[in-house]
Amino acid sequence: MKKNLFIALEGIDGSGKSTQMSLLANQFKIAGHKVYVTCEPTDNPIGALIRDIFNHRMEGDHRTIAGLFIADRLDHLLNSEYGLLKKMEEGYTVISDRYYFSSYAYQGAHMSMDWVIQANSLSADLLRPDLNVFIDISPETSMHRIQKGRNSVELFETLDNLNLVRASYFEAFQRLKNLERISVIEGERSPELVAADIWSQIETIL
Ligand code: ADP
Ligand code: TYD
Repeated sequence: MKKNLFIALEGIDGSGKSTQMSLLANQFKIAGHKVYVTCEPTDNPIGALIRDIFNHRMEGDHRTIAGLFIADRLDHLLNSEYGLLKKMEEGYTVISDRYYFSSYAYQGAHMSMDWVIQANSLSADLLRPDLNVFIDISPETSMHRIQKGRNSVELFETLDNLNLVRASYFEAFQRLKNLERISVIEGERSPELVAADIWSQIETIL
């Protein structure tokens, strides 16, 4: 049996994570893995609370949001029914659309990044990605893709904030480069070229 991996896909909004997740899942299946795909915020109750805040149905300070993401992530890992630790034990290769680097970048842009990293250390100790794949696009491309695809714009989706978040990602990568495996992929190419590049990075750890 192949060694199963845990891959986190990261990037600013509209960077192509969902698109790449399905292409990557197919590649893994061809390589003989059984695959489980998932995302954060999750579709579970704590994730639903977060989405309520993003859709302006509920008020939430940045610190409240940071706390909810920590709780959503721990539940995502530890839940006895759908928890990722269980999926890993069952031999699935797990691909997650966002994981803790999203908190470092999005919440760390508005509060102490050190605090956010520390507060997520339980999750990092439970399950560290074999690879964090960061799909890099410019904030301008992000805005363009978001506006094309949707009627409403979520809480974080302004050009200023996307600039801040992208910079925040690179700051987090710099801080954690000795602890985490990170691949930055140029995302402003065709989906097929982006996918081929991601797969070549994964082959180096298979
Ligand atoms: P995310 O999950 O990161 O928000 P999506 O995969 O949903 O990103 O992509 C956002 C939008 O950009 C979608 O309309 C998608 O079709 C388009 N898109 C995805 N990848 C590319 C690409 N490489 N080039 C151009 N458009 C893309
Ligand atoms: P999502 O619905 O995945 O949006 P997208 O498809 O654009 O990636 O994520 C919703 C928002 O959640 C996104 O703007 C990033 C934000 N987010 C955080 O702020 N912190 C986190 O820890 C995570 C996982 C996501």
